[in-house]
Amino acid sequence: MFSSNMITTLALSLALCPLTFAARAAEWRSRTIFQVLTDRFARSDGSTSAACKTADRVYCGGTYQGITNHLDYIQGMGFDEVWISPITEQVQGNTPDGYAYHGYWQQNLNELNSNFGSGNDLKALSSALHSRGMLLMLDVVVNHNGYNGAPATVDYSVFSPFNKKSQYHPYCTIDYSDTSNTTNIEQCWMGDTNVPLPDLRTEDADVAAGYQSWISNLISEYSIDGLRLDSAMEVNTGFWSGFHNAAGVYMIGEIYEADAGYVCGFQNYLPGVMNYATYFPLVAAFESTSGSISGLANMINTVKADCSDTSIIGTFSENHDQSRFASLTGDMALARNVISYTMLADGVPIIYQGQEQHYNALGGSSDPYNREALWLSDYNTNAPLYGLIATLNKARKHAISDDSAYLSYENYPIYTDTTTIAMRKGKMVTVLSNKGAEGAAYSQTIAAGYAGGVALTELLTCAKLTAGPRGNIVVPMANGEPRVYYPTAALSGSGLCGASSKRSYVMRRFTA
Ligand SMILES: *[C@@H]1O[C@H](CO)[C@@H](O)[C@H](O)[C@H]1NC(C)=O
Repeated sequence: MFSSNMITTLALSLALCPLTFAARAAEWRSRTIFQVLTDRFARSDGSTSAACKTADRVYCGGTYQGITNHLDYIQGMGFDEVWISPITEQVQGNTPDGYAYHGYWQQNLNELNSNFGSGNDLKALSSALHSRGMLLMLDVVVNHNGYNGAPATVDYSVFSPFNKKSQYHPYCTIDYSDTSNTTNIEQCWMGDTNVPLPDLRTEDADVAAGYQSWISNLISEYSIDGLRLDSAMEVNTGFWSGFHNAAGVYMIGEIYEADAGYVCGFQNYLPGVMNYATYFPLVAAFESTSGSISGLANMINTVKADCSDTSIIGTFSENHDQSRFASLTGDMALARNVISYTMLADGVPIIYQGQEQHYNALGGSSDPYNREALWLSDYNTNAPLYGLIATLNKARKHAISDDSAYLSYENYPIYTDTTTIAMRKGKMVTVLSNKGAEGAAYSQTIAAGYAGGVALTELLTCAKLTAGPRGNIVVPMANGEPRVYYPTAALSGSGLCGASSKRSYVMRRFTA
């Protein structure tokens, strides 16, 4: 499927890499990502009727063409980057753990998963995104393949190109309770005994070279802009620099651990990591009206201390492996707070399809129930959280265009109590609450650090507020709603709260 004309591409990307990487990381940090599960986003024919039974773990018919047909839905929320499922050929047919509709049980690197459409369909998606100024992020798996059968029965000849048993570690199971044993984490197998995931010897030169030529071809064949690296902590760290050079694009790794030092440590090998360190205290803070705000505040400071660059780590509050937030609490105010944090804190915000529809994973909170077909929502662009995300994307984009240093300011807590956290990033102050929709009204005085008397606009309600003589703000909290403040005079060009939606050249020069 991918031609083997990779030597030139590889040489070229090696030669260009330092500059390219810096430029790409700089470009990426300003973007926001919408995570699509290809099988569950949209069908080619647009049909929404036929059931998609998440519990059965079957293919539900989503395709690249379906995504291409619904880019307005994604762009309408302000996202400029789309993460799609792994594209490679998978374990075929049914298994005791269901079908490989998610794409994480690869068998043949050099063929596409035909359930999602053709190579031309994928190219059409890529160019449709690019013509809108949007980027395509591909999910890739290098740690393992997938096999339908007990570990001892794996027939390595079904895999391509790594079809020799000697290219895999011997079977053992990972003990995640001890991440200090890197041999165990990197060499033992993921999966279970029904569908074991044979673990590649990515430390071997032949395997590393095979992956490098594969990724280099793939990226040029389909004009891929970035990669999400599945199971990145289970791969030997020495693998990544060669792979990164061959790929020549931005990469963000899945480091599925709560410890900030551990997660951030992978920034020594990868530009971006999924911020699982913050994910857990973030959800814990807002999943109930008694969640720990201090746990979140402490983690914000820990991650800032431990990560070398908080502006390119992935910030999320849902994904295909975690509980739907709405399955933890149906409270809409809490959902609005967790989304406001996700969109406005440090890092590249990532929203998982369905979060904007307040999907709540009926039948169970997590995998496979958290993978509902998006078409069941009828792509409702009037959904309350869809509108909230659109506003927050506008706010973030505006802050970046208003202040070129915005993304390099680290978000920091300026006020916390047991139910409220206020954070400042550049000129923006975000005040979040876990009092929930039934929460009583209260006024919270916050030392926001604004100039005395400055006029502010709350971007979600458009209410005005004037800072006190020493820059304090008295925030009217009510019904557990989040508040987002920005200086009114600096809103020109944002399209928010009645401000014009395009800044003129003159305005840009003289308001900086
Ligand atoms: C680390 O993991 C490997 C592979 O599972 C195992 O053989 C070894 O005994 C472990 N080492 C320690 C110190 O536990």
